[in-house]
Amino acid sequence: NWTTHNVVEEQVALIREQVGTKRAICGLSGGVDSAVAAALVQKAIGSQLTCVYVDHGLMRKGETEQVEKDFVAATGVQLKVVDAQERFLTALAGVSDPETKRKIIGREFIRVFEQAQLEILQEDGPEVAFLVQGTLYPDVVESGGGTGTANIKSHHNVGGLPDDIEFELVEPLRKLFKDEVRMVGQELGLPEEIVQRQPFPGPGLGIRIVGEVTKDRLDLLREADAIAREELTAAGLDREIWQCPVVLLADVRSVGVQGDGRTYGHPIVLRPVSSEDAMTADWTRMPYDVLAKISTRITNEVSDVNRVVLDVTSKPPGTIEWE
Ligand code: XMP
Repeated sequence: NWTTHNVVEEQVALIREQVGTKRAICGLSGGVDSAVAAALVQKAIGSQLTCVYVDHGLMRKGETEQVEKDFVAATGVQLKVVDAQERFLTALAGVSDPETKRKIIGREFIRVFEQAQLEILQEDGPEVAFLVQGTLYPDVVESGGGTGTANIKSHHNVGGLPDDIEFELVEPLRKLFKDEVRMVGQELGLPEEIVQRQPFPGPGLGIRIVGEVTKDRLDLLREADAIAREELTAAGLDREIWQCPVVLLADVRSVGVQGDGRTYGHPIVLRPVSSEDAMTADWTRMPYDVLAKISTRITNEVSDVNRVVLDVTSKPPGTIEWE
């Protein structure tokens, strides 16, 4: 019979059998899937697992701390955090085109992650032969069902390593759907903020700033996003709404009147959507009083923002994210 307890027991046994006495690496993104996969593997093999978290500086307020502190406290996992904020900002400087931003973020992420992998490979200890991935059942079906391996190439000028290292994949969530993954995460005692997290794109806030990504703009958007999330949660809407991107129109300014005078600030867009699978979506008919509260707080508390607008476009034609 299917219980989360049985799933955990079964996967722990399978992981132990697969990994044996070797070591494994797992990349944490802050999302549910990688967190639950890592927690399962940690339960199975303990210190034979090292997790890697690339801090690209594009996360929302508090999310990096959730991984660094709360996730580590809940699991006891061995975590290597790479602070790559400067590197990502430098790579993104002067770039406004959405696809270019996505490519740069993806490329930098792989470089930083592989460098961290190579450093772990060079540590003393048993062979590092496994890479943990949070692949879910729908991903397995979509990609044709094969299990795989992953290569990393040592093109980073790190001496003493073979040219091409092959990892075997450990994918403990391959039979599970998203809601089941959340239940397993709960069973494993992971923090609620991680287990119940809504979808968030890999490129993070980098694709929620329309215009160039800078440190100041990221900080501003983080504040606005945190207010929106806080009020959605307070109103009990966080589980009802599929997700609510908060977008900064950094290249747009409009006139406002705040405090003693005229301002010339940026608009913030709220994009609450209802969806089953993100393939299609509709804009959420949210209570006006919650929208009002979010709008008032953002314009009062976030400097340089003097207008909050609501996106009332379904998908299609609009995508969920603005970039
Ligand atoms: P769109 O904007 O295409 O988004 O309607 C559909 C869903 O995918 C998420 N999304 C991403 N997730 N990496 C991700 O892991 C990405 O590059 C990415 N882009 C969009 C988006 O948040 C929504 O849930």
